[in-house]
Amino acid sequence: METLVTVLLGVSLILAFIHFKFPCLWHDFQYLRKFAAVRLQRLKFRQKKPFYTILDCFLDRVRKHPEKPFIIFGNKSYSYLDVDRQSNKVANALRTHSSLTEGDTVTLFLGNEPCFAWIWLGLCKLGCAASVLNINIRAQSLLHCFFCCDSSVLIAAAELEEAVKEVLPQLLERNVTVFLLKSQSGTEGLRSLSEKIDRASDEPLSPDLRSRVTMDSPGLFIFTSGTTGLPKASIFSQDKVWAGALFLCLAGVTSQDVIYIPLPLYHGSGLLLGLSGAIERGITVVLKRKFSVSQFWDDCRRDHVTVIIYIGEIMRYLCNTPKRDNDREHRVRIAVGNGIRADVWRSVLERFGDIKIVEFYGASDGNISFINYVGKIGAIGRVHYFHKMVLPYTLIKFDTIREEPVRDSNGRCIEVWKGETGLLVSKITKMAPFAGYAGNLEHTEKKKLRDVFQKGDLYFNSGDLLMIDHDNFIYFQDRVGDTFRWKGENVATTEVSDILKKMEFVEDVNVYGVKVPGYEGRVGMAAVTLRERREFNCTEAFTHVSSYLPAYARPRFIRIQTCLEITGTFKYIKTKLEKDGFNPAMIHDPLFVLEEKNNSYTPMTQMHYDSIISGKIRL
Ligand SMILES: *[C@@H]1O[C@H](CO)[C@@H](O)[C@H](O)[C@H]1NC(C)=O
Ligand SMILES: *[C@@H]1O[C@H](CO)[C@@H](O)[C@H](O)[C@H]1NC(C)=O
Ligand SMILES: *[C@@H]1O[C@H](CO)[C@@H](O)[C@H](O)[C@H]1NC(C)=O
Ligand SMILES: *[C@@H]1O[C@H](CO)[C@@H](O)[C@H](O)[C@H]1NC(C)=O
Repeated sequence: METLVTVLLGVSLILAFIHFKFPCLWHDFQYLRKFAAVRLQRLKFRQKKPFYTILDCFLDRVRKHPEKPFIIFGNKSYSYLDVDRQSNKVANALRTHSSLTEGDTVTLFLGNEPCFAWIWLGLCKLGCAASVLNINIRAQSLLHCFFCCDSSVLIAAAELEEAVKEVLPQLLERNVTVFLLKSQSGTEGLRSLSEKIDRASDEPLSPDLRSRVTMDSPGLFIFTSGTTGLPKASIFSQDKVWAGALFLCLAGVTSQDVIYIPLPLYHGSGLLLGLSGAIERGITVVLKRKFSVSQFWDDCRRDHVTVIIYIGEIMRYLCNTPKRDNDREHRVRIAVGNGIRADVWRSVLERFGDIKIVEFYGASDGNISFINYVGKIGAIGRVHYFHKMVLPYTLIKFDTIREEPVRDSNGRCIEVWKGETGLLVSKITKMAPFAGYAGNLEHTEKKKLRDVFQKGDLYFNSGDLLMIDHDNFIYFQDRVGDTFRWKGENVATTEVSDILKKMEFVEDVNVYGVKVPGYEGRVGMAAVTLRERREFNCTEAFTHVSSYLPAYARPRFIRIQTCLEITGTFKYIKTKLEKDGFNPAMIHDPLFVLEEKNNSYTPMTQMHYDSIISGKIRL
């Protein structure tokens, strides 16, 4: 008896010790199990002949539960079978009315609506890749994005007709087939598509049409506003589409769940994580045209949503609304996304109840991702031995002034210690290749870092500064150099500069982001020099900025300087400007703030500054 007690005591002491020493052991094990399962599954898909793509998965779901709702949009509901038939019609219409063949790329310029799903699936059925454009881009940006994916067909939403007309001559000049999702078009060269789809047959398409698609064929092109210049198209091979689609599985979503997608489908989060993930799980999607703070929880209640996806600001907006009695009346049990800050995370839990928040990290162009499977508040992921073995990565010392990695006397990079901030780089290997950007070899090269630890080795430069703490949790710290994040979007400073420079009174521009207490990321600011004897025209600047830049990219503050500081290598110095921020008491240069109400920039006052800091004015 006594021995038994001693043994039991001993065992529980050992267990307690293990728990104390390795508090996440169980989570680590669970993650290992899922990570291995997902990897194995992808390997199996790869080996299947013919290849098993997300479309094949969709067709399996259709066979399994044809009547299950796939997409709920407002008051309308479309079953898996409905969407399948509708995508057959799209594919048949395009076969008749265009010269598309397997391997071609079609560009979608389309907001969130159910037809996004069936047009995309229709293209899959023809063996075509889709490039999905941000619906806010216009003119030069639009043309640039269209042409960099070598696309020959554009399909645009009816409400984007004006934007398409603006670039129509340039498209037609290069023999692009331009379709508008309307029943009639009054413009020459702009073809209507809706009635062609309506009239087309819903007969299934032969798999022969896509017989040459492999796991390495491009499936999607998704744009990132990267570190330099115009947006860049990240190539998503069929295999990488799977990597995105299997994320919900890693996050613990089951086939009984219902997912809410208010994020744009032209982003990785909406299309890969959300829509493709839903197909993989075989679940119902509640699709929303646009994120709305006031309707968010009502939508979730009405449609029995159990999973939401977010970008950081969304959760903050939800927490900023006045409290309501029914805040906890909902079925949401999992929130997957990235960019939630620790304080917001805590208020979500406090206010909306027990929601499992699964924060992850993964640049859509990158080749490395982390997932915070433990639910550690504030972290973006956790170092896991097995994960690191399969996809090697490390944090290296980075010089933020010179904006490059620090190298030792042998020219090699230096790994940082735990608790120190460093640049995330991941090894480019066969398991973790880097597909790069479509039509942009130069930018693809720029993201590669060579001779990191050994001569001839090759790493992907994420451009993100992270920190790993002593408990192996990973935290996001900042973005390097030419981009910053605002409202969940990457803002490319060079792109904003190029646009500001087009104003004739402007001589030179340095765009950067400044921190505002209580906000995730940085808000845009520009230091500007003026041409001789010219003045800063507030209304013209406002009009210019609003017509050429999406809201999140417009510089909120403009600071007029007599000259811009540059480095010895002719790079603009941003660090000091970022430190100065936008406090008029600290800045003696003329300082302007963008005022939407006045349709103008207006001089920044101390009062205005105080209101922003105190949260009275929301940005
Ligand atoms: C467009 O098509 C016309 C007629 O088929 C051809 O002559 C022309 O070279 C094409 N232009 C381009 C840019 O491909
Ligand atoms: C890196 O890319 C490969 C192939 O494109 C993909 O299989 C892998 O999942 C990617 N890694 C991550 C972490 O996204
Ligand atoms: C500013 O620009 C607008 C139109 O671009 C013009 O009408 C106005 O006169 C300008 N103001 C000044 C002070 O130059
Ligand atoms: C802009 O509008 C605010 C009120 O919204 C007003 O106080 C301010 O004077 C206006 N500025 C200019 C330059 O008209």
